[in-house]
Amino acid sequence: MNEPVPPMMQLQIRSDGVGVILIDVPGESQNTLKAEFRTTFDTIRAEIESKDLPAVVIASAKEGSFIAGADIKLLETLKSADEGERRSREGQEAFDTLEAWKRPVVAAIHGACLGGGLELALACHARVASDDPKTKLGLPEVQLGLLPGAGGTQRLPALIGLEKALDLLLTGKQVNAKRARSMGLVDEVVPAAILIDVAAKRALDLIDVKQKRHGLVERIAEFAEPKALRELALSGNPAGRKIVFDQAEKTLREKAGEHYPAPYRILEVVRVGLEKGRAAGLALEAKRFGELIDTDVSRRLIGIFFATTAMKKENGTDHPEIEPRKVQKIAVLGAGIMGHGIALVTAEKADIDVRLRDVREEAVARGLAELRRPLDQKVEKKRLSARERDRILARISGTTDYSGFAGADVVIEAVFEDLALKHRVVKEVEAVTKDTTILASNTSSIPITRIAEASSRPDRLIGMHYFSPVHKMPLLEVIRTKDTSDETVATCVDLGRRQGKTVIVVNDGVGFYTSRILGPYMNEASWMLADGIPIEDIDEAARQFGFPVGPITLLDEVGVDTAEKVSHIIHAAFGDRVAPPPGLEKLVADGRTGRKGKKGFYTYGTKKKLVDPEVYRVLGIEPKGRGKVPLAELGERLGLQMVSEAIRCLAEGVLRSPRDGDIGAIFGLGFPPFLGGPFRYADGLGPSELLRRMERCADQHGRRFSPPELLRERAKSGQRFYD
Ligand code: NAI
Repeated sequence: MNEPVPPMMQLQIRSDGVGVILIDVPGESQNTLKAEFRTTFDTIRAEIESKDLPAVVIASAKEGSFIAGADIKLLETLKSADEGERRSREGQEAFDTLEAWKRPVVAAIHGACLGGGLELALACHARVASDDPKTKLGLPEVQLGLLPGAGGTQRLPALIGLEKALDLLLTGKQVNAKRARSMGLVDEVVPAAILIDVAAKRALDLIDVKQKRHGLVERIAEFAEPKALRELALSGNPAGRKIVFDQAEKTLREKAGEHYPAPYRILEVVRVGLEKGRAAGLALEAKRFGELIDTDVSRRLIGIFFATTAMKKENGTDHPEIEPRKVQKIAVLGAGIMGHGIALVTAEKADIDVRLRDVREEAVARGLAELRRPLDQKVEKKRLSARERDRILARISGTTDYSGFAGADVVIEAVFEDLALKHRVVKEVEAVTKDTTILASNTSSIPITRIAEASSRPDRLIGMHYFSPVHKMPLLEVIRTKDTSDETVATCVDLGRRQGKTVIVVNDGVGFYTSRILGPYMNEASWMLADGIPIEDIDEAARQFGFPVGPITLLDEVGVDTAEKVSHIIHAAFGDRVAPPPGLEKLVADGRTGRKGKKGFYTYGTKKKLVDPEVYRVLGIEPKGRGKVPLAELGERLGLQMVSEAIRCLAEGVLRSPRDGDIGAIFGLGFPPFLGGPFRYADGLGPSELLRRMERCADQHGRRFSPPELLRERAKSGQRFYD
């Protein structure tokens, strides 16, 4: 016999008579909105009616999760725009019923209150939140290429005003309870221990206020109507509203371009609601929700969400039973750009003690001062208390010797990129640490196997490749050699996650995965330049393809000298297919290192960043006029280079799966998320079409477009990269 399934919600009746509905999705750590919610809720509502309970609180039985959103698996089952619209309508009706309930309902929010969870809270008559750091409110649908489809686009502007609502709706950002209180999203913030008591009291007060004034029914009906006054202020001022909408649309076009339809639909739906009323707004909300769910963009964004969620549950090895060792203390070598960044995320996000070593006092002092800066900025913006900042800083101590290294579970080296120096520090570190201490290298280009040559315990040697600036860039690429143990991998994956990173694990090889696929992409940009394509066209083509910045801008950011060095490493490893055009060395000789030297492809220190025409003279190039080669063609050439190199990485076993390749390219290099990553992009075109495009480019531009063998095989068999 089957065990009876525990219910999604339970009703508890307090001594003051308030009914508390506790949401508790069985078998899951987070509450998400499920299809069965409606019927369970109707049953409990009937019970509350029959017992004539005066007021209701909706809360969660789970620690740290109110409702984290709709169950995304549910979204995946929606097969057409019509089905999406219908599902949205059902959600809207459920929350309309809740809002119209003739009993005061107060949401007691502790933990994640996101998406459909916040839409539910918005339909309640008041909201009380706990001051716990886990409490976060937001409507992240836009990040999945969707819009809130259960009334959120209508209730949010009515509650907090147009500008603040658009900010939340268009960015999907999450706010803490204090912020939510100041923007009017919640009515009160209290410690978690008294959350339900306060919510219950507020619910009872709503009846009291009411009965003293007009009687319960009208009072609640008043809540059910859009907040009349605020609504009037908004809709009564079409000129002001137009300014807000125009500005929002302008920012969208600048920032997101045309690749993501959802934010534009959100603007439209909010506007219609304000101009034509709630009913028209809701009807359009459902229609547009349905249309968006049926787009490739939202399918790919949802795919990325699933991939990152699944990755969080894995240990990065083929042996799921292997447990990571709990890291309690780490040491970092080198207090430069990378070293101090790694120290910061370790202390701030992972709450782990850090010993930071550099060779000179000044370097240690500079590193400590630099890592303090982002924390000070957070304090200034009131996102962190001064006490919290001091607590984080107290976790990091500096040194010029190896004192304090003996207790480190992991040592991460971020000294200069020089193999002999790396060998020296491997030996020094191994001499002063425990046998079990893991040594991770943050090298950007030296194969980990080469570094491990100096190691007496290669099973505990690994690559942890962070990206700059470390506190902002989301990816960590963990690189294992054939000697690295599974426990070492699992421990470093766990550490990276605690540092707030999305982690992929790859096998060692020149350039690992991310630098390897960046190489041919940057190389292609250099070839375009050598062909006289204007710098502005190259960068604009990449942006139109969907990259956040163009490759020439990136060369300036990374450093032209660094990029030049890497191009030779990649060339030496992979042969003529990735031969760089002659030229970059002339720029280096001319002192053009990029932004860090304030002299590169672009001008620095001028009001507007412009291409420095001197570059063409130094390179001996006569640039063509702008637009001579269509930008779409240039963008595709850049994209194809990255995609085909990713396919080679999969074929050679550098990558463990297409999924890791997609996540690495998106989170590490800004590969356009709406395309889903190199492998989803390849699957979107289909292997034969991708092969055809590569062959066409090879005819025009030669062997650097010669298609990978694996792609030829796939084109023949028709098999895609994802099942
Ligand atoms: P950096 O030049 O800013 O810092 C290196 C620091 O190491 C300097 O402060 C130097 O004094 C210190 N150092 C030298 N020898 C040392 C020793 N024996 N013990 C302790 N400290 C020592 O360099 P950055 O940019 O931080 O790079 C460090 C490593 O990270 C390099 O291997 C680099 O390839 C890699 N990397 C750099 C990225 C970037 O964007 N800058 C990105 C990813 C990796």
